[in-house]
Amino acid sequence: MKKTKIIIASDIHFCAEGWYGIDRVRKAEMLRADFAAEYARDPYAALLLLGDYSLDHWEWNTKGTYLTKGHSDTALFATQCLPLMVPAGVDVRMIAGNHEQYGEEKWQEITGGFHRRDHIVIGDFLFILSDTFGGDLDPTEHSDGTYIGADAAEIQALMARYPDKRVVLCAHWFDMNRESEAFLDLLRGEARIVCLMCGHNHISRVANTGEDKGNKPILYTGHYSYSGEKNIVRCLPGYREMILTDEGLTSKYIVPAHTYVYNQVKFTNEPATQDEFELRF
Ligand SMILES: [Fe+2]
Repeated sequence: MKKTKIIIASDIHFCAEGWYGIDRVRKAEMLRADFAAEYARDPYAALLLLGDYSLDHWEWNTKGTYLTKGHSDTALFATQCLPLMVPAGVDVRMIAGNHEQYGEEKWQEITGGFHRRDHIVIGDFLFILSDTFGGDLDPTEHSDGTYIGADAAEIQALMARYPDKRVVLCAHWFDMNRESEAFLDLLRGEARIVCLMCGHNHISRVANTGEDKGNKPILYTGHYSYSGEKNIVRCLPGYREMILTDEGLTSKYIVPAHTYVYNQVKFTNEPATQDEFELRF
């Protein structure tokens, strides 16, 4: 049976301040080592990054680094860290999150050629990476991004271009209460759409878009920065693996072992997997 593995990560927030006692030099080294160990354990064909590499644009506290200092942590991550993290032959996609409000031209410039919205064919699957926070780009005011939802016409056009592929819809975030009727119609009508994946809430969980919204599984991809859960050990830094076969698809959140400091408590977690998902065709 043909089997393809991919890795999906989001909300890396490669920021100067760091979290859980991990500064960004350490974070970059941790993530590089985690990806390398993951590849050594079982090679993956692609790495999909779903946004928030930074707080380049940010409405609160010290505000975004790009408008205050002209500094882009995203650029630093894309040019200094990412090339060291990607094993040879692995396909990478790097879409923007709500903390990266650069227009497409600027996005390509700072990331070395990635696109805000993208797609990739992996085996018998088409992954469509939408730009749901693509409003009010290249801003002059601080904000946490303008949500515009998934582009149903673009998804439809890509699905028409690849009529034999099953489809996984990815984005930095899907706000199911703010998506267009056209997008919800796609979820309701297109059996080829097998599931959705997104980050942004810094939570690992398997959920559902809702009975009236196509009833599709939605996989949350966690974070590699700080948890969106109150109980932070419920979702420690990690990433999601996805295994694609012709019979189905499985996914789990992978939590590598690391030593963190939280509320002055130092602890080391066991390596773990959680929030597993299995879909049989
Ligand atoms: Fe986000």
